[in-house]
Amino acid sequence: MTDRPRVFVARVIPEDGLAAIRAGCDAEIWPDELPPPRAELLRAIEGCDGVLTLLTDRVDDEFLDRAGPQLKVVSNFAVGFDNVDVAACTRRAIPVGNTPGVLTETTADLAFALLMAAARRVAEGDRYVRAGRWRTWGPMLLLGPDVHGATLGIVGFGRIGQAVARRAAGFGMHILYHDLQRADEALERELGATYRPLEDLLGEADVVTLHVNLSEETRGLIDAARLRSMKPTAILVNTARGPVVDTGALHEALRDGLIAAAALDVTDPEPLPADHPLLALDNCLVVPHIASASRATRGRMAAMAAANLLAGVRGERLPTPVNPEVYG
Ligand code: GLV
Repeated sequence: MTDRPRVFVARVIPEDGLAAIRAGCDAEIWPDELPPPRAELLRAIEGCDGVLTLLTDRVDDEFLDRAGPQLKVVSNFAVGFDNVDVAACTRRAIPVGNTPGVLTETTADLAFALLMAAARRVAEGDRYVRAGRWRTWGPMLLLGPDVHGATLGIVGFGRIGQAVARRAAGFGMHILYHDLQRADEALERELGATYRPLEDLLGEADVVTLHVNLSEETRGLIDAARLRSMKPTAILVNTARGPVVDTGALHEALRDGLIAAAALDVTDPEPLPADHPLLALDNCLVVPHIASASRATRGRMAAMAAANLLAGVRGERLPTPVNPEVYG
């Protein structure tokens, strides 16, 4: 018997977080590379005081019922928390934690890498070389648009969107942004970013990069009509969440040349099956949801998720709650 809090950690995360969790709790850690199947997850959380979830684990009423009324915290190892029914947690006065801030720059790095790779056809070039097709220097080979001087449209101008703007400034890009709220003028001036209504941004941008949360308002935000309003030379970059883009419409737009290319860190469905039609297109670059995947950043996320978990099981305020209203 132990009176240490019981917690379930839904995957192996970096030691920067796990060490403190093991030291402070009676912890079960899911050992596999793949997430726990739903039935296993529901079994494992029964009677827990705290759970550390990943974006692959759905936290809903069924989950909370199975965990039981003693559950004191849901700590999500991600900045996004669309996998968590936050309202259901709030109704039960359970604080939910996320990992904001620590992954901003790393995620912006990958958004910029995807932007560069799609524009300059890096993945296609690599496939071309590996296929033994590189016969000589070619004046017409794998031409793409310039990144420097191009117009960048940033949709969602929060921490990550702004970090992308800082990188774009270094490339002499003309920066447009759209968000529900206009940034204040000082920030617009500092970042050299100009507000545009979404439809105007989509029509003007050479590259559109998405940095919105997934919510009912943003699900399907980039649909067939919006893809049609983009330039035929435009590139779409998504490091936000897959369902922000209508996948079927994106496939058609890329196939039919309505836009030039897409570079995706996130997809719908996720993972994307290897035989998915998007992967048959040369102008679609896909990486497996790795925007925050630097060693240092994943370590910081682990430490932050552990801090939220430990604060929660001790009945203390989480360092980064997404539903602070539970504290009245
Ligand atoms: C990853 O996608 C995250 O939300 O942290």
